[in-house]
Amino acid sequence: MANTKGIILAGGKGTRLYPLTSTFSKQLQPIYDKPMIYYPLSTLMLAGIRDVLIISTPEDVPNFEKLLGSGEQWGINISYIVQQFPGGLPQAFILGEEFIENQQVCLILGDNLFYGKLDFLRNGLKNNDGGTIFAYQVDNPNSYGVVEFDKNHSVISIEEKPDLPKSNYAIPGLYIFDNNVSAISKELKPSKRGEIEITDLHKAYLNQEKLRVEMIGRGVAWLDTGTPEAMLEASNFIHLIEKRQGTKISCPEEIALQQHFISMEKYLEIVNNLPNCDYKNYCLKIVKEYQ
Ligand code: DAU
Repeated sequence: MANTKGIILAGGKGTRLYPLTSTFSKQLQPIYDKPMIYYPLSTLMLAGIRDVLIISTPEDVPNFEKLLGSGEQWGINISYIVQQFPGGLPQAFILGEEFIENQQVCLILGDNLFYGKLDFLRNGLKNNDGGTIFAYQVDNPNSYGVVEFDKNHSVISIEEKPDLPKSNYAIPGLYIFDNNVSAISKELKPSKRGEIEITDLHKAYLNQEKLRVEMIGRGVAWLDTGTPEAMLEASNFIHLIEKRQGTKISCPEEIALQQHFISMEKYLEIVNNLPNCDYKNYCLKIVKEYQ
């Protein structure tokens, strides 16, 4: 598998969450017991990605830096870039061009949350040859990018938020591209709403017969958290599983230990420095499982 860089796009205006977002960004808001960005960051870490770029607004980059630092505490590298205005998702690849270098890149939107076995992502990373998108069955495809494919899983069409969706398969905010993505993104023309569109990027790869679609099965939960109701539902979901199992979902300290990004010695050092709270108690409780 090629080495993969990870980008989390965590900007935007967050207008649908006003007044919550009048002082700080959506991706810093809580989903039950953690800031939202912990979830997509954990997804990347669980896929073995250790080089992560976070892109956000001029106001919020300092807040993300305060929250996550350099990543060194979790055995990863986190860097930051400002997006001056929300000009479209493919801007992540233009802003991230130097960061991506000659590797493939996995972009995850900072408000997308995955729970369950991540084999779909590992397969996507392993088999990518150009671009890879994912397909997840939903009841309301018209709220998302929608992919139509044939029985061999070859992509037939891609549409952004269509009135009449051609399938029930939404495209989650998780994408893998080879290192041509920055050059291709620069060629994209803004749509009527003045943004460059991720679906146009997909179509560019599709036209070159370089777009794969990987199915995400029903055993995986994909939640997006773009409205107050969706945030509440995601929080309730995380709470329910954590309470039932006595585990924490998307705890970067635990994932760093489990992925061998950090040693047990380092883990204990960072956990002992956490303030006294449930989160610290959990991190201490699981030590014996990893010894
Ligand atoms: O969640 C999956 C969906 O995400 C996909 O199915 C769609 O194809 C894709 O376009 C996107 O739809 P959204 O309606 O969620 O896109 P939105 O413009 O709201 O942006 C998604 C997130 O990315 C949001 O948290 C804000 C952030 N963002 C967005 C833009 C356009 C940025 O940080 N910078 C940007 O320039």
